[in-house]
Amino acid sequence: MKKIYKLGIIGYGSMAHGHYDCLKDHKDERVEVKGVFDLDEKRMELARSENLVAYESREALLSDPEIDIVLVATTNEVHKEICIDALNHGKNVICEKPVTISSDELIEVMKVAKNTGKVFTIDQNRRTNLDFQLMKRNVEKGEIGKIYHVESRVEGSRGMPKGWRTLKRLGGGMMLDWGVHLIDQLMYFNTSAVTNVFCKMYNIDYDEVEDNFQLWLDFKDGMTALVEVATNNYITKPRWYALGTKGTLQVDNWDCNGEIVKVIDKDNTWDERIFYTKAGPTKTMAPRRPESVERIKLSEPTDIEDGLQVVYRQLVGAIEGKELTIKPEQALRVMKVMEAAFESAENHTAIKTNI
Ligand SMILES: NC(=O)c1ccc[n+]([C@@H]2O[C@H](COP(=O)([O-])OP(=O)(O)OC[C@H]3O[C@@H](n4cnc5c(N)ncnc54)[C@H](O)[C@@H]3O)[C@@H](O)[C@H]2O)c1
Repeated sequence: MKKIYKLGIIGYGSMAHGHYDCLKDHKDERVEVKGVFDLDEKRMELARSENLVAYESREALLSDPEIDIVLVATTNEVHKEICIDALNHGKNVICEKPVTISSDELIEVMKVAKNTGKVFTIDQNRRTNLDFQLMKRNVEKGEIGKIYHVESRVEGSRGMPKGWRTLKRLGGGMMLDWGVHLIDQLMYFNTSAVTNVFCKMYNIDYDEVEDNFQLWLDFKDGMTALVEVATNNYITKPRWYALGTKGTLQVDNWDCNGEIVKVIDKDNTWDERIFYTKAGPTKTMAPRRPESVERIKLSEPTDIEDGLQVVYRQLVGAIEGKELTIKPEQALRVMKVMEAAFESAENHTAIKTNI
């Protein structure tokens, strides 16, 4: 019989409850929630109602020898302290994103993980998201030729959720909240160094933290990226938009629909005449003849498994000696890009990097 790993959760808020639900639905994943600790008594009551152990303190949870893995899912400002505490208690640790609120903090945790020899991973769960995989696999298949630019954006119109996300000292703001996911996806997709960072941050509803941002990245292999996160956009642009030498790819929205338009006759495209539009005459921007392109409809891939269970499976694999998939070193690169973005936004300048 294969070992079932017992999970202790510190910070039993809405995301942690998502982990609980997922593991309850995926009993074959060999990770089972034993108990939780949260500062909020209401969350402890919820845990008791779900027949989980509600530990009287963090120390009590960490001292339970039955706990093999600790999930840190508190607000961001205490991730570092709790990860270090859990590792020093001999636990394997999975920390919610953003793993810490600075690269210095993360380096501290990584040192402790190395000294204890325990597995330390991060819930960068969006690497298996279907929209991302749809873009990635089609680009990697060469459907649009050589990619030279990609845009990744998520846009809401309901503002930021109230609470800690609006407070700087608790690690709020959309860069640490959503930026961390979108940058992680891009740096997983293109592993060449990020050489230039330029970021514009917007304070629409909150002075303390950015509720929107636009971030430009240059990659060493020549690809550029625009990452946009917004909570105040009432008309949205595509979730993914990728430009290649032989075509364009778009993933429209959360439903994972989209299209690739591939050029068939790249050289034979010009009419001699000027084209007249409602917005004036043009030759350069004149529309193509329909027969000069191939259009491929995109829809959600059905052969990719997405969900937190995938993250736990890789964690169990790493505990049992396999290579870790979501590595702290990767999170460190993402963290450094975010730091360069904050510096860029503050100083209104591009930052040369080699991350
Ligand atoms: N991976 C994802 O897709 C994803 C999605 C949402 C949130 N998150 C991350 O999950 C974490 C929690 O976010 P959330 O939306 O669940 O927030 P939340 O406010 O719902 O939950 C946070 C919980 O942590 C508890 N807490 C705070 N400090 C604590 C401490 N020192 N000890 C014990 N408990 C403490 C709070 O009482 C609260 O119940 C954040 O790091 C967030 O970035 C990740």
